[in-house]
Amino acid sequence: MKHIVFLIFLSAIMQATAQTKTPVSIIPEPVSIKEKLGFFNLPNPLLIAAPDAQEVKNVTDYLSNKLKTSTGYVVTVDAKNKNAAIQFVILKQQDAQLGTEGYRLNINDKNVSIEANHPQGLFYGMQSLLQLLPPDIEANQKSPITDWKLPQLEIVDYPRFEWRGLMLDVARHFFTKEEVMQYIDVMAKYKYNLLHWHLTEDEGWRIEIKSFPKLTEVGAWRIDRTGTFGNFKPIQPGEKPTYGGFYTQEDIKEVVAYAKKQFVDILPEIDVPGHSLAAVVAYPELSCTKGVENYHVRYGERIMDWSQGHPPIAMVDNTLCPANEKVYEFMEKVVTEVAQLFPFEYIHLGGDEAPMNFWEKSEAVQALMKREKLTNIKQAQGYFTNRVEKIVASHGKKMMGWDEILEGGVPKSAAVMSWRGMKGGIEAAKEGHEVVMSPTTFTYIDYMQADRITEPPVYATLRLNKTYEFDPLPDGVEAKYIKGGQANLWTEQIYNIRQAEYMTWPRGLAIAESVWSLKEKKNWQAFTKKVEAHFPRFDAAETKYARAMFDPDFRPRKNALGRMEVVLRTELDDLTIHYSFDNSEPDHFYPSYQEPLLVPIDAYRLRVVTYRGKEKVGRVLTMPIAELERRLDAPDE
Ligand code: ACM
Repeated sequence: MKHIVFLIFLSAIMQATAQTKTPVSIIPEPVSIKEKLGFFNLPNPLLIAAPDAQEVKNVTDYLSNKLKTSTGYVVTVDAKNKNAAIQFVILKQQDAQLGTEGYRLNINDKNVSIEANHPQGLFYGMQSLLQLLPPDIEANQKSPITDWKLPQLEIVDYPRFEWRGLMLDVARHFFTKEEVMQYIDVMAKYKYNLLHWHLTEDEGWRIEIKSFPKLTEVGAWRIDRTGTFGNFKPIQPGEKPTYGGFYTQEDIKEVVAYAKKQFVDILPEIDVPGHSLAAVVAYPELSCTKGVENYHVRYGERIMDWSQGHPPIAMVDNTLCPANEKVYEFMEKVVTEVAQLFPFEYIHLGGDEAPMNFWEKSEAVQALMKREKLTNIKQAQGYFTNRVEKIVASHGKKMMGWDEILEGGVPKSAAVMSWRGMKGGIEAAKEGHEVVMSPTTFTYIDYMQADRITEPPVYATLRLNKTYEFDPLPDGVEAKYIKGGQANLWTEQIYNIRQAEYMTWPRGLAIAESVWSLKEKKNWQAFTKKVEAHFPRFDAAETKYARAMFDPDFRPRKNALGRMEVVLRTELDDLTIHYSFDNSEPDHFYPSYQEPLLVPIDAYRLRVVTYRGKEKVGRVLTMPIAELERRLDAPDE
């Protein structure tokens, strides 16, 4: 008898191992994964058991819609069924380790169970579960796959930080509410829980404010230009403000409710007192400068001089006047409406990059400074920040601002979003402010992720490996002040949602892991393998993403004889770079890069492509030799 049991056991193991296991590739990396032998096959019809509660229903609806669409299975949700293949459980006895967002996912040969203290944990457990299924699960149509099998395992998981955000700028370019929802759909898959919605700018005011209708009647529209934003030519005769759009208050409520179903909160940003040209054009009385009646909403022409550093010298006054009582009446009404639309506990009031050269010339601001005994112009912004912070607090909300708000004096109750590196955040935390880290150094995903010859030009580059280095909690800072981190997508050079996706993914995966996963669980090599495993998932979902991690980086330099040579580097160390100087398109039969390439004297361009063995993984990049020569003279551009 013993013998037979053993043989049955052995054959079960052999069967289990005979099926090849795809490596588990969950992003962000869970706290712990215990892999086991064998699989669990999803049955058809498929039963899901879950407690009867609205927030849980949002989770089970999500899962059953997804399963029905891609598997074609008959999927039913039943609150009570003990034999269900997928069991969602809200723990009766709270598990302190899991917190609000954590979960346990167990897959054995009988069923799948996801346990959590809160429905949000169930949602994240479900996202991990979906990532264990083949990429076709992400498709919006029925897959040809007929057996959907899950690896048996046990996962325990919870986030490192409570604030895991992405910022989307809908002001430089407008994104419809459907596009914003599409953006939210992808972030939620990677356990982001916050969309920072940058709603107002010099280029457009995008949220309906009923007490100030011209904000959107006038302020939401600008001249339509395409090309390299920031350098556009002067207005031509006959050009009218035809580009733009805004969200009605009904739209906003719809997006907020949509996001909430996926446990994503929305942080609204009304960016004041700088970046406010659209508001000034709509209501010129909010300015301290004469002649603003003739201004127009910015369409991408140059309006700031950055040559003197920060703050910039403005060529037009794009600020709300800190010395004008009408501005505070305006802010009171705007904040009242915003506070009613967004249930999230914070309201972001910007504060970044406010130019001060017009304030320095303003009699009203000078009088304010005298009256309030302000000794430098930055304190005029501090005065403004303190007044608007009180307005926000009077509506039961907390104010957040970019790190510039620290410079003019700000109450402790204001939260700080550190963008000019981590420095502002460190200083703010030491002063006792709540902090969200979103430093340019690691999280500015509007920066180019590959060489500028292939990308819309932006003044800086941020490659995937650098985003992966992001750690929101610097040494020597008390963890309780650091709420978490986020990546920011400014959209000057982003004209459509496809490009917004391309810029976000996969760098958004690196940030997701930086804000969710335990620090000791992060591993660049393992991460890149997982990223590659997620590309087919993005393909199936028809979400655009960048394959820039396969692109080499070009570094020209002069050798000892004064000849130019080029150093090529890849972010991944298992790739081979093939190249040509003869203008033809290289493939894996072409020479491979071994050492810095000496540029032949007549070469016109260097063309490169990356392979892994015989598999082409990168795109062909064509680098003009003249561009390399230019970079020799200006290496940091
Ligand atoms: C910012 O990037 N101006 C916050």
